[in-house]
Amino acid sequence: MGKCLFVTGTGTDVGKTYVTALMVKKLRALGKTSGYYKAALSGAEKDSSGHLLPGDADYVRRIGGIGRSTAPLVSYVYPDPVSPHLAARLHQQPISMERLDADFASAKSSFDYLTVEGSGGIVCPLRWDREAKFCLDDWIRHIGLSVLMIADAGLGTINATVLTAEHLQKIGIPLKGIILNRFHPQNIMEEDNLHMVEEMTGARVIAKVTENATDLEIKAEGLATLYE
Ligand SMILES: Nc1ncnc2c1ncn2[C@@H]1O[C@H](COP(=O)(O)OP(=O)(O)OP(=O)(O)O)[C@@H](O)[C@H]1O
Ligand SMILES: [Mg+2]
Repeated sequence: MGKCLFVTGTGTDVGKTYVTALMVKKLRALGKTSGYYKAALSGAEKDSSGHLLPGDADYVRRIGGIGRSTAPLVSYVYPDPVSPHLAARLHQQPISMERLDADFASAKSSFDYLTVEGSGGIVCPLRWDREAKFCLDDWIRHIGLSVLMIADAGLGTINATVLTAEHLQKIGIPLKGIILNRFHPQNIMEEDNLHMVEEMTGARVIAKVTENATDLEIKAEGLATLYE
């Protein structure tokens, strides 16, 4: 059984996939297998024959160097760029918690380290119909994972990181650390954001990722200790 860590973000497009790929790549430097899993991806593009492409997983597979794996990397892929609960309703393909559990278990048993990427931010409805109502954070709690938060380094990040950290604390999901993405060293506001985010959330900023970074500036051994 592998060790796992859930990667959440302060919102969509903050760089969860970009940073996850660097994490997956970094862990491989330990000589271990390092994999990826995502419960639901919406806004997927199609290939020339009309098949939906699991873009985030393809990116992490390529940059992170995930080899051939029989484990599912994404359970549900939808074309519409909307919340998974709505994409699922539009395509009459509701998300089943049992399938997420089974796919996650399969991915977990296929790698030494498994990085699980969220969809959007921490509050993201996966299913909202007469039969069932649950959000991503319900599922994270259900499978018992701790999270790492990806946040943009720039303006607005104090509000977004503190609200996300407070929500995690309220529902009892441990926060293992924060990574600031698109960080510009020596930018006075971003350096202050780092300090304020650490003070106000009580979590440590474990890495800063600059524009077009190809490596994470932390040791693989240190990163590995966040996985449980
Ligand atoms: N540090 C960076 N340098 C260069 N490009 C970046 C960086 N971080 C993110 N990007 C780019 O910004 C876009 C959004 O990033 P990404 O797809 O990782 O966001 P996300 O949080 O995973 O979004 P989603 O919620 O859709 O999963 C992508 O095109 C990605 O390549
Ligand atoms: Mg993504």
